[in-house]
Amino acid sequence: MKSIEEKIQDLKRERGAIIIAHNYQPDEVQAIADFTGDSLELSRKGAELPHQVIVFCGVHFMAETAAILSPEKTILLPDQFAGCPMADMITADQLRAKKAEHPGAVVITYVNSSAAIKAESDLCCTSSNAMKIVASVPADKEIIFVPDTHLGHYVQEQLGRKMIIWDGYCPTHSRIRDVDILREKEDHPNAIVMAHPECPLNIRELADELLSTGQMCKVAKESPHKEFIVATEMGLLYRLRNENPDKKFYSVSDRAVCPNMKKIDLEKVLWSLEDMQYRVTVPEEIANKARRSIEAMLELS
Ligand code: 13P
Ligand code: SF4
Repeated sequence: MKSIEEKIQDLKRERGAIIIAHNYQPDEVQAIADFTGDSLELSRKGAELPHQVIVFCGVHFMAETAAILSPEKTILLPDQFAGCPMADMITADQLRAKKAEHPGAVVITYVNSSAAIKAESDLCCTSSNAMKIVASVPADKEIIFVPDTHLGHYVQEQLGRKMIIWDGYCPTHSRIRDVDILREKEDHPNAIVMAHPECPLNIRELADELLSTGQMCKVAKESPHKEFIVATEMGLLYRLRNENPDKKFYSVSDRAVCPNMKKIDLEKVLWSLEDMQYRVTVPEEIANKARRSIEAMLELS
């Protein structure tokens, strides 16, 4: 009898599909994926791949971004309820009201947002390119940054550029406590701390490096350091340990888990290919507007 992994591989070939997974996906899903990466890498990959069917193992806004960039492709999200609470912290009406308060402001939107919000924006960004995107806006322009308050404030601090920042946040990164990091630092004095910019200020202050998940993978590989304290969602540990068997990675807390990222498992990936579900689409009018802000980001980064 075939294993579930073999059934997935067979069906994937039959459907001409490819499986891509975010770095926070469960280990078993990352293990069968053709490509794993951070939000920017996945948006690029989704657009470049020749495959007509993409099984997107991540959360809804990521699959939606792939659907916006490749409307002719079939983008499947194995769990239709895998959403992102931060993306839900702003509505298009709220953003329109904020824009009306600041006419002429440039709207920069973190990709962790709905297609409707991206459609109201001038530029998108991810945690790996936010600094570059904000810096590209002429100094005399106001900037509205949505929805992540922590990423927004981090960029504002680094660039010394005052922005109008929305107050959304990631509940998973907000569960990481400073005492968790301090404890790990005491236990592993030679380790460096890599934290995600979605973390609150008290955590960012304890970090040696603030990085997207893809950048953490790169730094872990290239750095002469042998030990790392990792302040982000725990799923990343699988990839870090796999790619760097000679190095040590310590998670700061087993509360740093994104329940939405963990909704996908091998059974759901198989069912997704069997039933060609759940197809993620974006209405053409919204997709056309949203595409402009995503492509503007891709050109700049
Ligand atoms: P990156 O993988 O782009 O760092 O994003 C992290 C995240 O929270 C995605 O939901
Ligand atoms: Fe959203 Fe945070 Fe989960 Fe990323 S980790 S999908 S930002 S809730």
